[in-house]
Amino acid sequence: MQVAGQHYQTIWLKPGENRIVQIIDQRFLPFRFTVEDLRTLADCVCAIKDMHVRGAPLIGACAAYGMYLAACEAKEHGPSAGWLAAAAADLKAARPTAVNLAWAVDRQLEKAGAGESLHAQIELLRAGAESIRELELENSRKIGEHGYPIIEELATRKRGQPVNILTHCNAGWLACIDYGTATAPIYYAFDRGIRLHVWVDETRPRNQGSRLTAWELGEHGISHTIIADNTGGHLMQRGLVDVVIVGSDRTTCAGDVANKIGTYLKALAAKDNKVPFYAALPSSTIDWDLRSGGDIEIEERGAEEVKYVEGWSGDERKTVLVAPENSPAMNYAFDVTPARLVSGLITERGICEASEQGIIRLFPERVRA
Ligand code: MRU
Repeated sequence: MQVAGQHYQTIWLKPGENRIVQIIDQRFLPFRFTVEDLRTLADCVCAIKDMHVRGAPLIGACAAYGMYLAACEAKEHGPSAGWLAAAAADLKAARPTAVNLAWAVDRQLEKAGAGESLHAQIELLRAGAESIRELELENSRKIGEHGYPIIEELATRKRGQPVNILTHCNAGWLACIDYGTATAPIYYAFDRGIRLHVWVDETRPRNQGSRLTAWELGEHGISHTIIADNTGGHLMQRGLVDVVIVGSDRTTCAGDVANKIGTYLKALAAKDNKVPFYAALPSSTIDWDLRSGGDIEIEERGAEEVKYVEGWSGDERKTVLVAPENSPAMNYAFDVTPARLVSGLITERGICEASEQGIIRLFPERVRA
């Protein structure tokens, strides 16, 4: 995507120095655009845990590069048995809900297993990380193509009036490699001249909506309005939302969708108001071993994210207390929307019903014997 006229993706190997992984440090957006160098496994674990990078596909890709850097370090410090297994465990523990992370790490472990020397493993892991990056890039591009008819049909029905789309959190290009998941059909439609407007949920406590999604859409010239998280239901009652599109951190093989906390409430409001509710996700987000959303591990983050709000004043990052200092606070990062509230899943292979049969129709190779 374009940032101030220059094309960026979210993660890449530094040109000419392929032992350095570069990312956009999202903690400083939208106030400052900063590229960070990751040189070690520990840098990658920290970037994922402290959310320099975030969003399911991107943390998967970052973990894949983390495995590559771990192998490079093993070379420098002398190989030790179990080094890569320990690196895999560290990366997987960094954030527990998005299954893309474990998926990418396991894929890398399998790749490394084919290397007969550490040197061979390093090369395999570098190629493995690059291929995950390419795969997720292509997945997002296809999600855009497949999701486009939903918006196109609404535009036809509205006879050229702007299509109003509500989204939650940031399932944009910043959460992926490029294009996004929920935003991919939006960019695709906008680039084809469809008039649209996006309601951007602020997404407390970390404000991924107001800070990241709003910034992304603005950079692309897309009309949008930031709303407080509790506003969506009211807008739906007034007929001001034509469709809800969100991303996902983990979708069970029966179609339950874990996504940023508050997504479930949007799905309930959408159902009550007969507004279609779609989740857009690559197949790397599907947990093929889990049927029930109730079994998804939900990350709990620090209470300080709820009690303090971070912003910029002049040139300085500031954190201010917005609650009684001694009140306890709780911070579940995700919730689960049951499949029955989901109108469809937009994947790289097309749109399917949020059900085991629907998913298997698109991914028949996953049928269990
Ligand atoms: O806590 P975050 O910012 O990593 O949560 C991200 C989300 O919930 C996104 O909606 C999800 O990862 C989909 S990303 C395309």
